[in-house]
Amino acid sequence: MAETHVEPSQLVLPLFVAEGLSEPRPIASMPGVVQHTRETARKAYSEAASLGLGGVMLFGIPEHKDAVGSGSLDPNGILNVALADARAEVGDELVIMSDLCLDEFTDHGHCGVLDSSGRVDNDATLEIYAQMGVIQAASGAHVVGPSGMMDGQVAAVREALDAAGHSDTVILAYAAKYASAFYGPFREAVDSSLQGDRKTYQQDPANGREAVREALLDVAEGADIVMVKPALSYLDLIADVRAAVVVPVAAYNVSGELAMVEAAAANGWIDRERAIDEVLLSIRRAGADIVLTYWAAEVAARLNR
Ligand code: PBG
Repeated sequence: MAETHVEPSQLVLPLFVAEGLSEPRPIASMPGVVQHTRETARKAYSEAASLGLGGVMLFGIPEHKDAVGSGSLDPNGILNVALADARAEVGDELVIMSDLCLDEFTDHGHCGVLDSSGRVDNDATLEIYAQMGVIQAASGAHVVGPSGMMDGQVAAVREALDAAGHSDTVILAYAAKYASAFYGPFREAVDSSLQGDRKTYQQDPANGREAVREALLDVAEGADIVMVKPALSYLDLIADVRAAVVVPVAAYNVSGELAMVEAAAANGWIDRERAIDEVLLSIRRAGADIVLTYWAAEVAARLNR
């Protein structure tokens, strides 16, 4: 009679695929998580499918970054080839999701291109996001996840997808994404050295109603799924967004949330498996239909036993 369950199909595994790697590279601040080579990533896709996961979310790490993130629009760029690999490996057996953002591709680490004064240029960035959506869908993504918090990003991507004949491609909108300290280890994961901060486009942790406003705006622009991120410090907002929209709600159990549990467990301060289960259960209980978590494969394997 437990009210809440965690099932493998509700979990999405984020995966990092790096260009030019010959061996998977461990990410020190994210114990258990690696930057994959294209080959080891292929194994991860088929493992995710056989575990019955809800999906994988792919992040690409290019060898060369530049001011406009040109690797994102290159059909042979790492994220686009990884999407094609994933689709070739698992077809429609697993939902393949793609991070749609420039920060992995830019040398300054911002989620968009900069104007001459060094500020993120919202509308110039939208034009690139629109092209990224199309190329990611053409490469093999079932779902694209605009995560840069530019105003109007969902509408721009939806319009471009439809115009290019990708009307079936789903948009998972990072609707309420907070300017958070909990993304720290992710920067190491994608080799990003951010100049400045993201406070001009990500949300202020003090503002909760804004999460609902952002989610409603994204639904109006055509989002099929809305996401709250991070998860643990924002459980109240997962519940508020769940109550406000009728589309599925996702939550991202981010890198810093993993790092805290892993570090405490490594010191023998908490029981690792119990803590992980409690984290995922609480995110589900708050109202998330879908949970992105680096522990997805491990937890699914345990649930399937
Ligand atoms: C943006 C993006 C970020 C994360 C996922 N997508 C970084 C950011 O917004 O600063 C962070 C995920 C994590 O910390 O686990 N492409």
